[in-house]
Amino acid sequence: MHRSQQVEHLGTSISPATWLVAAGRPTDPGEPLNVPLVPASNFILGSARAYSRDDATPAWEAFETVVGGLEGGTAVAFASGMAAAAALIGALGVGASIVLPTDCYAGVVGLVEQGVARRGWTCRRLPVIDTQAWITHALNADLVWLESPTNPLLDIADLPRICAAPRKPGSLLVVDNTIATPLNQSPLAMGADAVMHSATKYMGGHSDLLGGVAIARTASLAHELRRARELYGGTPGTLEMFLALRGLRTMSLRVAASQASALTIAKRLSEHRQVHSVRYPGLTSHPAHTLASTFMRGYSGVVTFEVKGDAPRADAVCRTLRIVRHATSLGAVESTLERRAAVPGQEHLPAGLLRMSVGCEDVEDIWRDLEQALNSSHL
Ligand SMILES: Cc1ncc(COP(=O)(O)O)c(C=O)c1O
Repeated sequence: MHRSQQVEHLGTSISPATWLVAAGRPTDPGEPLNVPLVPASNFILGSARAYSRDDATPAWEAFETVVGGLEGGTAVAFASGMAAAAALIGALGVGASIVLPTDCYAGVVGLVEQGVARRGWTCRRLPVIDTQAWITHALNADLVWLESPTNPLLDIADLPRICAAPRKPGSLLVVDNTIATPLNQSPLAMGADAVMHSATKYMGGHSDLLGGVAIARTASLAHELRRARELYGGTPGTLEMFLALRGLRTMSLRVAASQASALTIAKRLSEHRQVHSVRYPGLTSHPAHTLASTFMRGYSGVVTFEVKGDAPRADAVCRTLRIVRHATSLGAVESTLERRAAVPGQEHLPAGLLRMSVGCEDVEDIWRDLEQALNSSHL
């Protein structure tokens, strides 16, 4: 049930790939095909637009239309993924209780830790694979924050069961859908209250912008998110939204290419003598592959693997690459790779763990580059 995805457009049902290309465009004769870039802080008074911290510029409005249609809710765009997360988390009152994954994006953890220190919040960290624990704790939590696949360990939560389980009245269940993308799973349809994305990743897709978006299931939550954007000023930039909208037009092609190559790379890494272990939900050896296949339509382009020889070898691999770039972040046309334990705050991860974001280069070129780096990075 969760695996099919169609979007309603002008009275017909179309595929997400078509929606991404066709939605949110001008329609009147003489208008440009693409939403124009309108750099404006303020508008001549007398219409719905007055000041662009509060009121959408055209590209931002179109971006929200396209993302909202794809996720099946009302999208509210932000200046970054963290600005979207802060709008969802920052609304919690004094003494709120929160559940976070043990493997969770570090910025979200940092934000919640501030609330624990300054606002008397309590936070429980649970492994996403422990479905029963999530169901139990959701009964008393004010905020249930899920990530699946998790970053960087790529664990899978049983989203259909956790999102449909009863929870505390007035609470929020949010899914960070950044790694999966809306093309691969639809948490709102499973019962989540909101979904968020770092649009910096697959939506933008070219490592040239920061953006974020929260998608609400109800109009009242969307209203609250817009109000938080106005008050805290996490408004997206016009140029960034223009670029993010352009990124969305090709997202379906990029994600399809990245995840097809990621599966090939993950399989070959699994057989490489310098590789200790590989995590990719598309591999049948992933402990939650069967579960993921019941509700995911694809497994994204992120592959995490551990090399033998720990940090020294992993660092040597990063230095020896020629096509894959040694860089943080994920979801772009360029393949990137990073030793995650080298990132401040991530020292708890295995020293030799590399997170790779497989991009849109030819898969044989990506593999040859990775193979030469693994083979030549002798200590
Ligand atoms: C899973 C995930 N969520 C949220 C964020 C935060 O997004 P941004 O960097 O756009 O603020 C990131 C960024 O790396 C991420 O990977």
